[in-house]
Amino acid sequence: MPVQELWIEGYRSVQSLRFPLEPVTVVVGPNGCGKTNVYRALQLLHSGAEGSLAHSLAEEGGMPSVLWAGSRKKGEPARFTVGVRLEDLAYELSCGLVPPPEGPFGLDPDVKEETVWLHEGKRRHVMAERRSRSVFARDAEGHRTTFAVELWGNESVLAQIVEPHRFPLLSALRAELLRWRFYHHFRTDPESPLRHAQVGVRTPALAHDGRDLAAALMTIDNIGDDRGLHEAVENAFPGSSLELDNEDGRFSIRMRMPGLQRALEASELSDGTLRYLCLLAALLSPRPPPFLALNEPETSLHPSLLEPLGRLIATASRRSQVFVTTHAHELATALEKHAGASVLSLRKDGGATELVE
Ligand SMILES: Nc1ncnc2c1ncn2[C@@H]1O[C@H](COP(=O)(O)OP(=O)(O)O)[C@@H](O)[C@H]1O
Ligand SMILES: [Mg+2]
Repeated sequence: MPVQELWIEGYRSVQSLRFPLEPVTVVVGPNGCGKTNVYRALQLLHSGAEGSLAHSLAEEGGMPSVLWAGSRKKGEPARFTVGVRLEDLAYELSCGLVPPPEGPFGLDPDVKEETVWLHEGKRRHVMAERRSRSVFARDAEGHRTTFAVELWGNESVLAQIVEPHRFPLLSALRAELLRWRFYHHFRTDPESPLRHAQVGVRTPALAHDGRDLAAALMTIDNIGDDRGLHEAVENAFPGSSLELDNEDGRFSIRMRMPGLQRALEASELSDGTLRYLCLLAALLSPRPPPFLALNEPETSLHPSLLEPLGRLIATASRRSQVFVTTHAHELATALEKHAGASVLSLRKDGGATELVE
């Protein structure tokens, strides 16, 4: 199910924003304009489906930190809302603060409202509606049913469906959101697992921080587009080649580079090279996700890598809907050229993220 529209309100610098998503959408703008905030808002829908909404928000400093810090209309509650339209389905999640007395979990989100709609022509039907702790949903026969479980206030109802077969629409929505994939930061510090040999298992999807890079590349080499992988390496690093090593089931990577007598181990490669290899592994996944989001993939890449990265993302976009944020105009241009990307520019005005028309 492609994501056709996204709306965000009250989340960090995004006071209110709504825009369509295309097969490839690129969000560009200067540092601090709110690109990562938009990316994170989308990711919250995935976290909600997973049951990790509270944890995701905690990693960002907790609920009070993510709420729009600008002025609100009188009487308007402190909330953020994220919504998406997926073909004929639409889903919206609104969270606010835990009501007093907060107890020890005052930084948790409190899910205030969740709604799922089904669009039929010009009409839209509410298929599920949550108001704090109470939910009704239409079951497989279309009957209005109240959920019999005691809901956790800090998690999405999608992660708390106990009888999935009774609520096929909610289950399908949850399954779809769970398949979305997000890449924001690949860990390349000296202790990062990706710099060391590791027990490898078949890995069709690279972990979000790239920790299982060798296993993901080995999987592509084995059951995926191995030619595409080695061509992409040669394209990005002319004269170099990637070697994948398997020692008693422990996988590691090495790069042969022009002018060097021996291949370099992962522990010796530059951050930029390792990050590029992570992007390769993510984009050539043999089990592509329906929706793939990359936040500022240009981070610590040499400018000469932006054009090949653009081509690689274009290839991935034949199998996945792609959403990219970047401050590199060269990358946005490459994506426009190679993938017909829709480019949206953001700026910050009066503290609020806005679309540049
Ligand atoms: N709760 C908040 N309310 C309003 N603005 C916020 C809030 N939290 C962060 N910001 C603003 O968001 C900006 C960072 O946005 P970010 O998405 O990281 O930018 P970038 O475009 O560089 O990725 C900061 O400039 C900060 O002022
Ligand atoms: Mg950012």
